[in-house]
Amino acid sequence: MLDAPSVPDGEYDRVYQRLERLEAEHPGLVTPESPTQRVLGSAMQGLAPVRHAVPMLSIRTETDTEASGAQAFDARIRRELGLQEADPPVEYVAEPKFDGLAMGLRYEDRRLVQAATRGDGEVGEDVTHAIRTIRQIPLRLPAGAPPLLEVRGEVYMRGPDFERLNQRQQQLGEKTFVNPRNAAAGAVRQLDARIAAQRPLSFFAYGLGEVTPPEQGGPEWRTHYELLRQLKDWGFPVAEQVRLAHGAAELVAFHARMGAARATLPYGIDGVVYKVNSLALQRQLGFVTREPRWAVAHKYPPQEMVTRVEAIDVQVGRTGKITPVARLAPVFVGGATVTNATLHNLFELRRKRVRVGDQVVVRRAGDVIPEVVGVVDARRPAYVPNFRMPRACPVCGSSVVREHGEIEHRCTGGLFCAAQRKQALLHFASRKAMDIEGLGEKLVDQLVDGALIHGLPGLYALGEEQLAGLERMAEKSARNLREALEKSKHTTLARFLYALGIRHVGEATAKDLARHFGRLDVLMEADADALMQVSDVGPVVAESIRTFFAQPHNREVVQALRDAGVQPQEGEPLPAAALPLAGKTVVLTGTLPTLAREEAKALLEAAGARVAGSVSKKTSYVVAGSEAGSKLAKAQELGVPVLDEEGLRALLAAALE
Ligand code: IVH
Repeated sequence: MLDAPSVPDGEYDRVYQRLERLEAEHPGLVTPESPTQRVLGSAMQGLAPVRHAVPMLSIRTETDTEASGAQAFDARIRRELGLQEADPPVEYVAEPKFDGLAMGLRYEDRRLVQAATRGDGEVGEDVTHAIRTIRQIPLRLPAGAPPLLEVRGEVYMRGPDFERLNQRQQQLGEKTFVNPRNAAAGAVRQLDARIAAQRPLSFFAYGLGEVTPPEQGGPEWRTHYELLRQLKDWGFPVAEQVRLAHGAAELVAFHARMGAARATLPYGIDGVVYKVNSLALQRQLGFVTREPRWAVAHKYPPQEMVTRVEAIDVQVGRTGKITPVARLAPVFVGGATVTNATLHNLFELRRKRVRVGDQVVVRRAGDVIPEVVGVVDARRPAYVPNFRMPRACPVCGSSVVREHGEIEHRCTGGLFCAAQRKQALLHFASRKAMDIEGLGEKLVDQLVDGALIHGLPGLYALGEEQLAGLERMAEKSARNLREALEKSKHTTLARFLYALGIRHVGEATAKDLARHFGRLDVLMEADADALMQVSDVGPVVAESIRTFFAQPHNREVVQALRDAGVQPQEGEPLPAAALPLAGKTVVLTGTLPTLAREEAKALLEAAGARVAGSVSKKTSYVVAGSEAGSKLAKAQELGVPVLDEEGLRALLAAALE
C-alpha cells in the first residue's frame, strides 16, 4: 500500500501548489506539519536509515505548458548572473525528467557500497540489496574513477518491463501495479532481494553527491555535460535524449520535442529539466532553501488524475464490440478535459472493481484513449449494485453475446445496429482510410439518427444544401465537406480496402492486398488459396476477406460506391517477386538517428517490404534505433537479424541496385 499513493502526482502537485500559494499569502498559517515543510516521506521501517553526505535536493517546478516556463527560467538566470541583452545566450543542459525515484549510489574505492533512496532529502533508506540486482548499475568502477564517488540518478521501470511484470502478477493472482513508478518504488523497497531481482528495474544517472574533492586528487569537471559524459564512460546509463541548449529558444524546442516523443519513449517522463551547464556558474548561482537556483523542472500536463465515476454505460463499436465506459466528473488530464474513460471489458471492470461513486485514477497519454486505471477510494454508497452487462444491445435491441474463448461481448445486430453503422461511417471517413475531413462524430450522429443516410454510399448523395441545413453546419463547412467527399473518390485501392472495414484487414494488409491483386474485381473473386499467396495473409484473414466479399450485401455496397463515382486507382497485379523486398517483413523500433519512422516505412514499402508492428518468427529484419525496447529483445530471442539505420540503408541500396 505504501507504494500505491492514494492520489496521482498530477493531482498532488496541483493541491501542493495551491497550498504553497496560500502559505505564501498567509505565512501565519504555516504549521510544522505542513507538507511544504518537509520533503517527501521519511524513512520507512524495515530499511536502515542513511544520512546523505550531501542533501538530496528537489528542483523548482514550472507547471506552465507554454514556452513561458523556459523563458521565465532563462530570464531569471540572466538577471541573477547580471547579463545584459547583448551578452551571448547561456548554455544549458536539457534533460528528460524521469518518472521514477531518486537514488544515490555510493562508491568507495571503486566499489558500490551503498544505495540510498532520497527519503526526506537528509535521511533516506538503505536499499543496497535491491539496487545490486539492477544490471545496468556497475558494481565496480574502472581505474581512473575517484576513491569516493556518489552518483545520483533515477531508478525507473521501462514501459515494456512494467507490462510484462503486471501480466505475470496477474497470472500469479498477485496484485498488479497502477503505473511503472509505483512498481519501481515497490521493487526498490522490497526487503527480499530475490523478489526485487524479479522486478526489472533500470537506471539513469543525472548528477553527483559527495565526490573526492579536487584538492585530494578528485576529478575537476568544467561542465555538467562533461561530467555526464564521464559517468557514461564509467558505465552508467545516461539518457540519449540529453542535449546542450543555448538560450530560452532551444529549451522551448527541447520541451516541445520531448513532449511529442513522450508517448513513444520506453521510460516515463513527467517533464524536462533545464540545468545551467557551467559548474562555476552553478556555484555562483547557489541555492534557495532546498532548491538549486541553477536548475528548473518544466512539467507536462499530468497524464493521471483522480475523479468520480458518475455512471457506467456501454458503447457499441464498429464490429459490435460492447465496451463498458465510465462517465466521469469532468477532469483535466493529458492536456484535455475528459468525461468518459474506457473500462475495456467486463473482466477488466471486475478486476479493477470499479463501481458508480468511486474515486478513480484516470489516465490519458498521447493518442491513447482515456482509461480508468484503478479505484483509489471506494466512496460509493453501500447500495450501489455491481455493473451488469446488458443482454440486449442498448442501441438496436439485438442480443448481446460473448463467444466461447472471447473476452469481449458483442452486439449481434451488424449493420442493422445504428451504433455499428455510425462507427463504420467514421472508420470509412478516417484519415488513414478515405480521409474525408469534416465528417466527425456529431455529423455522423445526425446523419444516421435523422435517417438521412443508411449506408456508406449514401454519403456521396448528400447535397450541399442538405448538409448546410444540419446543426453546427455553416455553408462553408458544408461546401468543404462536399469537396472532401469529391476528393475521396480518387483514392488508392489500399485505402479503399481498408475503409471497407473488413475484419482483420488493417492498413498494412490492405496495402499488401492492393499491391498483390492490383484490381478490386480480381480480389473480390479470389478464393482462400489465392488470398494466402499474399505475404502475411493466413487462413483466418483469408477467410474473413472471402466471407466479406461473398455476402451480396457487401458486394452491393461496393457497387453502389462505384456507381457514386468512387474510383480507387487500380494497377496491374504484381508478380510476387517484382519488387526487390517483396515478401520481406520488417519491424521498426526505437528512434533512428536521421530517418523518421514514417520515412523509413515509406522507403521500405516502396521496395516492396511489408512493415509490421510486432516481431514474430516470420519477421525478416528488425530495424532498431536508440531506446529500442521489447521488440529488439524479442528479435534477439528469436534470432531475427537486427539492423541499425546504416544497415537499413545498405539493405535498401542493395535491393534497388
Ligand atoms: S536533478 C539538484 N535531473 O526530480 C537537482 N532530477 O525534484 C537534483 N528527477 O526526485 C535533481 N529526472 O529524482 C534531476 N534529469 C533529472 C531528473 C531529476 C528526474 C527527479 C529527481 C527528484 C526530482 C527533483
